Amino acid sequence: MKPVVLAGGSGSRLWPKSRAALPKQFLSLTSDNSMLQETLLRLDGLDVDAPVFICNEAHRFLVAEQLRQADIDHGGIILEPEGKNTAPAIALAAYHALKSGEDPTLLVLAADHLIKDVGRFHKAIKHAERLAEEGKLVTFGIVPTMPHTGYGYIRRGEQLDQAETGFSVSEFVEKPDEATAKKYISNGDYFWNSGMFMFKASRYIEELSKFVPQMAEICKTSIASETQDLDFVRINANIFSACPEDSIDYAVMEQTSDAAMVTLDAGWNDVGSWSSLWETAEDKDEKGNVLKGDIMLHGTADSYVNAENRLVALVGVSDMVVVETKDAVLVANKNNVQDIKHVVNRLKQEK
Ligand code: GDD
Ligand code: MG
Repeated sequence: MKPVVLAGGSGSRLWPKSRAALPKQFLSLTSDNSMLQETLLRLDGLDVDAPVFICNEAHRFLVAEQLRQADIDHGGIILEPEGKNTAPAIALAAYHALKSGEDPTLLVLAADHLIKDVGRFHKAIKHAERLAEEGKLVTFGIVPTMPHTGYGYIRRGEQLDQAETGFSVSEFVEKPDEATAKKYISNGDYFWNSGMFMFKASRYIEELSKFVPQMAEICKTSIASETQDLDFVRINANIFSACPEDSIDYAVMEQTSDAAMVTLDAGWNDVGSWSSLWETAEDKDEKGNVLKGDIMLHGTADSYVNAENRLVALVGVSDMVVVETKDAVLVANKNNVQDIKHVVNRLKQEK
């Protein structure tokens, strides 16, 4: 089994800590290790090949340095000249793996998730590996707790084996609107897609070639002329620039009739926003505040405060998110933190 770590996202809802030059996956948000390092360290104890990384060219030294720091071996860092979302990223990794003449089972991991119960995670991976070896495209399904519109939803089909956690997928819907998400939650048969996948490299390519042949072809030729220097695998930027953008969820998982789901009950959280960091924190004070840095509170409850350089004081407020950095300060209602991406978009336009 070969881990493929997707590390090319932007994590814009965690602004102002997460920036174009230092996105979420490279930050230490849930422990002293970065999210990327945690992703790899939690594979300890599993029988896996050296992981392959795929990230934006601009972040190559960050990835290499963070792996070196945590003493993590790798089987190559594939560099994307530009991000084209996850479907092409995984295709590049799959073609790269197939070039060796082997057809490994790929364990595709996001580089920016939190998983609290590693033992249960390993168990789910072993189960998924069996299904992937039978040719399934396996996702890990999380029991949903709210009608979140930023996730994919999986409708569980029939049970596939004795293990009671493996199911066929009767429907996969990426990021439904709120009314649809609410329907799914009350139905009880739907799970969140965790954004981690497992399949044979050849099966992913077969399915992608069926649904988006142009994408598969461009990724194949981009990799055919790859060059390797030190840690880095460089692909043909001219060819890749013509690649259509799409996520694995829309391009493959919604379309394939060979999807399977293994349920995962392991304290998974995609740490997509400041409120999810508040939610998952285990070090809240007696008023429900999560505090990082030099902070003074009076009459403040259920807030997330992160002060990097200066003393930050909050008086008589609750459900706040305050994040202070060298050159920007965020003050937000904890219930509106999904909207931070609008600020980030405006900043991008104004630059
Ligand atoms: N190499 C590379 N290139 N990685 C990328 C790219 C890219 O162009 N775009 C995103 N990634 C990485 C991100 O860093 C992250 O680790 C992972 O791929 C998933 O991308 P996100 O952008 O975070 O996806 P999402 O959160 O909107 O949705 C996905 O994850 C949800 C769970 O967190 C989907 O799979 C949803 O269905 C799922 O529910
Ligand atoms: Mg995400």
